[in-house]
Amino acid sequence: MDKIRIHGGHELSGSIKISGSKNSALPILAATLLTREECCIRRVPDLSDTNYMVQILAHLGAHVERASGNVAVTAEKINSVAPYDVVRRMRASVCVIGPLLGRCKEATVSLPGGCVIGDRPIDLHLKGFEALGAAVRVENGDVRVFAPKLTGAIINLRGKFGPTVLGTDNVMMASVLAEGTTVIEGAAQEPEVVDLANFLIKMGAKIEGAGTRRLIIEGVKELHGAEHDIIPDRIEAGTFLVAGAIAGKGVTLKRVDPEHVQSVTNALTSCGYKIDFRADEISVSPNGATTPLEISTEPYPGFPTDMQAQMCALLSTTDGISVITENIFPQRYMHVAELKRMGANVDLEGPTAVIKGVDQLHGAPVMASDLRASAALVLAGLKAEGVTEVSRVYHIDRGYEHLDEKLRDLGAEIERVQA
Ligand code: EPU
Repeated sequence: MDKIRIHGGHELSGSIKISGSKNSALPILAATLLTREECCIRRVPDLSDTNYMVQILAHLGAHVERASGNVAVTAEKINSVAPYDVVRRMRASVCVIGPLLGRCKEATVSLPGGCVIGDRPIDLHLKGFEALGAAVRVENGDVRVFAPKLTGAIINLRGKFGPTVLGTDNVMMASVLAEGTTVIEGAAQEPEVVDLANFLIKMGAKIEGAGTRRLIIEGVKELHGAEHDIIPDRIEAGTFLVAGAIAGKGVTLKRVDPEHVQSVTNALTSCGYKIDFRADEISVSPNGATTPLEISTEPYPGFPTDMQAQMCALLSTTDGISVITENIFPQRYMHVAELKRMGANVDLEGPTAVIKGVDQLHGAPVMASDLRASAALVLAGLKAEGVTEVSRVYHIDRGYEHLDEKLRDLGAEIERVQA
């Protein structure tokens, strides 16, 4: 299993290009199951998660060709069963249920297993399918949904932790081929949901309200093939903004949507960094003294939970006392114990982390526990004195395209080593 070794203390500068969004690409690839015609998806990031999705589509009977960021899918004849072996590696595989239900009027998909970032139920997805007229059974670790026909309905998808991103995607994908009008209240507003809606609209779906809390979907008889460019990954962009802040003297990100990362750039500005915007570029550079922050994770456009761990790394070396409250996945703090091994001073009180900035972090062997936690450890390693070795790098490969190469391009001393 590979490790990432970082010799900390090198200043980062220069520019890198942000890849296509993982969390857009996954449901959009799943949406290609909704038509028998060919779909071409461009700027699909080269990640293990997108590879898993390609494998799932192929297992379901689709013909898939992948070449340098372009994925062509023709799902002419498909079956609707995705067993545990095929879906277990990735929680996001649940987003094939909606398109399978829409197209085949049935789906049997194994339930994904546990997840270190907390309990991740899919009750809201299932509630949405039921509202469209599907029967739902959960037996022997599989979820089975079936309906002679799907009928539009008014569905509220807001749960106790707010809206659900993949739940909104799933119910939207099931409803585009339902009879009549579906209204999804409490919909997720994330840019990835908007990207999926835009792709579905290109396929012939009738969807209004993407990017707001209410989606109105008028069912159509069938969808056709379409081409689509995936939006830039706002979490990869946020991660590199924090890299630029924690260890940079001037780092520029290219091909980024500034609006999608506004909560992160606002946080960095409040912390004391200089942020410059130019069309689809953002630069971050030091600007004198930094100040501690108070942040709460919220659904979009609030501060993303997927940036909480990285921010925790930055605030660990920011003078003063910072406070982070995690409102989406209250237990998403696996990185804290590892950051502490590097000298960070963080106390957890339920969903809140109280971070007392230290002068210096120290390199240490640390263990990645999930995707964003791993990114936080790499960021901490860039700043730390000495050598940091992050093991279980496969977590990083799930969601960051060539993270080590991009950081090396910016001047980091970072290498991938075989353990
Ligand atoms: N929730 C329920 N019931 C449901 C679904 C969700 O109670 O049926 C709860 C969750 O437990 C959580 C909250 O609702 O407390 C929000 O979860 P959501 O459903 O929005 O998460 P998701 O759609 O499964 C996506 C991203 C995650 C990201 C979250 C929140 C993808 C593939 N995954 O997950 O990304 O953290 O939205 O923004 O889009 C990552 O990329 O590292 C990652 C974990």
